[in-house]
Amino acid sequence: MDLRREIVGIDQQVPLLDGRLVNYVNLDNAASTPAFHRVKEKVDQALDLYSSVHRGSGYKSLISTYLYEHARQIVLDFVGANPDYEVVIFGKNTTEAINKLAHRFPFKPGDMVLTSLMEHHSNDLPWRAHAQVVYAEVEEDGRLDMNDLEAKLKQYQGKIKLVAITGASNVTGSMPPIYEIARLAHHYQAQIMVDCAQLLPHRPVMMGEPDTESHLDFITFSGHKIYAPYGSGALIGARQFFNRGEPEYRGGGTIEMVTLQEVEWAEAPERDEAGSPNVIGAVALASALQQLQEVGMEAVAKHEMELTSYALNKLQGIDRVRLYGPTDPNQVDQRVGVIPFAVEGMPHAKLAAILGFEGGVGVRNGCFCAHPYVLRLMKIEREEFLTYRQQVLQHNRADLPGFVRASLGCYNSQDDIDRLADMLEGIAAEEYKGKYEPDLQSGSYYPVGFNYEDLGKAFQF
Ligand code: ALA
Repeated sequence: MDLRREIVGIDQQVPLLDGRLVNYVNLDNAASTPAFHRVKEKVDQALDLYSSVHRGSGYKSLISTYLYEHARQIVLDFVGANPDYEVVIFGKNTTEAINKLAHRFPFKPGDMVLTSLMEHHSNDLPWRAHAQVVYAEVEEDGRLDMNDLEAKLKQYQGKIKLVAITGASNVTGSMPPIYEIARLAHHYQAQIMVDCAQLLPHRPVMMGEPDTESHLDFITFSGHKIYAPYGSGALIGARQFFNRGEPEYRGGGTIEMVTLQEVEWAEAPERDEAGSPNVIGAVALASALQQLQEVGMEAVAKHEMELTSYALNKLQGIDRVRLYGPTDPNQVDQRVGVIPFAVEGMPHAKLAAILGFEGGVGVRNGCFCAHPYVLRLMKIEREEFLTYRQQVLQHNRADLPGFVRASLGCYNSQDDIDRLADMLEGIAAEEYKGKYEPDLQSGSYYPVGFNYEDLGKAFQF
């Protein structure tokens, strides 16, 4: 399988601190993936035909409506959803999808959501606004503690209405056993929502037959993490569920009829898609999924597992490099290729900056929108945390805890890992050229003399 040639910008050269140009190595796929060529081409094609959807009468409107509605079928098919039973609601991204579900879930006072300590803030904060949230514990290496999850389900049986769990952590790559969790959730009379933002680009996900114990009731994911960065994401769940209740956003498209006295809401999915929808985003998302389907998610998973294993082996052998999360290169079937690490004694933001400015390697650093999880992995107690909090409130982010994350996409190669490993070896031996200083406000490090505005030369608006 070679998806490398399918990636837009794969040969993009970027300047290093010493003026050399090198091919960019993107190891920040957990944040956002590049687009597939197929996606770009289909979007271009769709733009020629683009017009208003749903209510326009012209040919272009009809075809735009067809594209948008057909995209739903492709998305449902990709996750094995049953189109008679399930419906896809398009939105911006996973965060929006989870917020929507949190708003739409018919919580009553006293109802609880069981989530976990390993969640992205987007699968934690939306629930806090609508229900009481309990957190399943994690093991020392960041894996979900299944015993604690079941104990909490048992303890709060009848109160926990929903288990909201990540399919794969954006910090450690660890993959909770979602089908087993679904069985447990249903056994304890709860439903399950899986945040598939990090899982879907790496592994096959099947929602399953609605009347089975391992059925996933709701899933959410983002286009920009699955090779379709055109502003579309998805929330999938039972049509009947979304046919009940009132939408979060009200307006055009959400209704059957309105008088000054009454509103008849439209059925799902229109009820939850207020305003003109993102047709182009839906086409992009569907095209990306088609591309992955053609290659086969089993092949994608196999390639990424091999590469993750290769990376874990290599990085573990470097002096001063410390890996977090699960590190066993033989257990890559239980995690995706998201690898957090640090170089002992070096601020994570500085390490990330050197990788970028001197190696042309793009990574992310910090706490990855998962503060409770990162603090736990780093064993930072509350007292220490409070000093960091004080610093942040004083607009000083220079010394905050965190690490660097390398996250793989389906197109990354061993050469990409070698570049990262070579860089880390050099950095760990203090062999880097620039002098870096922190920007207190953002916490980022830049080489002395770096001018952010110069980046504008690479792209003229
Ligand atoms: N949630 C994205 C990440 O983990 C942005 O980087």
